[in-house]
Amino acid sequence: HGTAKVNSIGHLEIGGIDTVKLAEQYGTPLYIYDVALIRERARSFKRTFESLGIKAQVAYASKAFSTVAMVQLAAEEGLSLDVVSGGELYTAMAAGFPPEKIHFHGNNKSLEELDMAIEKEIGCFVVDNFYELEMLNDLCLAKGKQVNVLLRVTPGIEAHTHDYILTGQEDSKFGFGLQNGQADEAVEAALKSKNLKLLGVHCHIGSQIFETTGFLLAAKKIFEKLNGWKKEKSFEPTVLNLGGGFGIRYTSEDDPIPASQYVEEIIDEVKKQAKRFDMKVPEIWIEPGRSLVGDAGTTLYRIGSRKEVPNVRQYVAVDGGMSDNIRPALYQAKYEAILANKALEEPEETVSIAGKACESGDMLIWDLPLPKAGSTDILAVFCTGAYGYSMANNYNRIPRPAVVFVENGKERLVVKRETFEDMVRLDLPLEERVNK
Ligand code: LLP
Repeated sequence: HGTAKVNSIGHLEIGGIDTVKLAEQYGTPLYIYDVALIRERARSFKRTFESLGIKAQVAYASKAFSTVAMVQLAAEEGLSLDVVSGGELYTAMAAGFPPEKIHFHGNNKSLEELDMAIEKEIGCFVVDNFYELEMLNDLCLAKGKQVNVLLRVTPGIEAHTHDYILTGQEDSKFGFGLQNGQADEAVEAALKSKNLKLLGVHCHIGSQIFETTGFLLAAKKIFEKLNGWKKEKSFEPTVLNLGGGFGIRYTSEDDPIPASQYVEEIIDEVKKQAKRFDMKVPEIWIEPGRSLVGDAGTTLYRIGSRKEVPNVRQYVAVDGGMSDNIRPALYQAKYEAILANKALEEPEETVSIAGKACESGDMLIWDLPLPKAGSTDILAVFCTGAYGYSMANNYNRIPRPAVVFVENGKERLVVKRETFEDMVRLDLPLEERVNK
């Protein structure tokens, strides 16, 4: 997919660059991003809204992969940005991202984070709970500022990978309950405040979702509530944010629908509901993370040791693992991979790819068909672009890999590889050693 292909010497090429060369040049493990594919994914969302004549913001959920270069790419593509912490906000500012297109999420924003965001004059606060509502209001009052807010609601729908379940009573750490009176109370409070400008509501029903049923149901439930607010409080929203969660294909077992179809079906329902209650169609915001960057990322590893459990399994170990991709260990996530330097060779054996961390659960892929793999080979694991680097860690004091962007035959190092010095950079000694 994307610009990935096999070149004339049988190597995996991405963005017009030989990945085996990249591995030699930058070392392994190495994250590579197919920039053209990210652009294509972003444009496809935007194009669909435009073709439907709907005012929209497509906000990149930067938790999926937040670095200065990535945020700058999002800006180039005219995306808005969803940040969930002071660190992601700081990254956005360091990247020069337009503050008015930043939306600030999170269920426990600190006073300092809210203060920083008010100072930077970001576009919108997605308020999650009463504690935040009061703190934000007080802070704005003290500063003599007004900020835009959306209220995050939990519509009582939980979307799971392939299907969705209705939860009668919401049980989530996020948002105001839509059915239990919390959302009504929050709207009341926001409307009363002169310092908060209530734009509308937000909901996010889950992640890696393959169908639209959950989104449509959420929209329906929200509109039923909006109708009440219109009648009782004369409040009509200008914005409805339906979150992210659009699924991608990690392996052939996954069968997501295209971005355009999610958007078309959602907009259809929104129009239907607006008509039903004689309301204006609000501006629609969405927050894709995984579906913008997930399949654009590939991780390159060098193969090292091998262990045979006779008649059972071949463990083939790579020089990374759960420190650069925790998803298999955390969610039993599945991935596909090939040997980048033997991209045309037929599989000869089935092996299981182990990471190098001191943890039995550090397995990247079980039962992967591969050509005969040895210690000179480079393993390319696909679809690691979302929640790979962003959830990377230093378990076992393994330095985090570098990140390289590739596009049109050009490469660019956008995150340097961590060093062993970085591993002790913040450490302080047990006692000061004074040279006598
Ligand atoms: N908006 C909100 C409010 C969210 O909570 C999330 C993801 C997104 C947007 C973006 O969702 P996406 O389009 O990427 O599915 N670490 C997990 C995923 C956690 C998602 C958390 N929230 C994983 O690796 O699968």
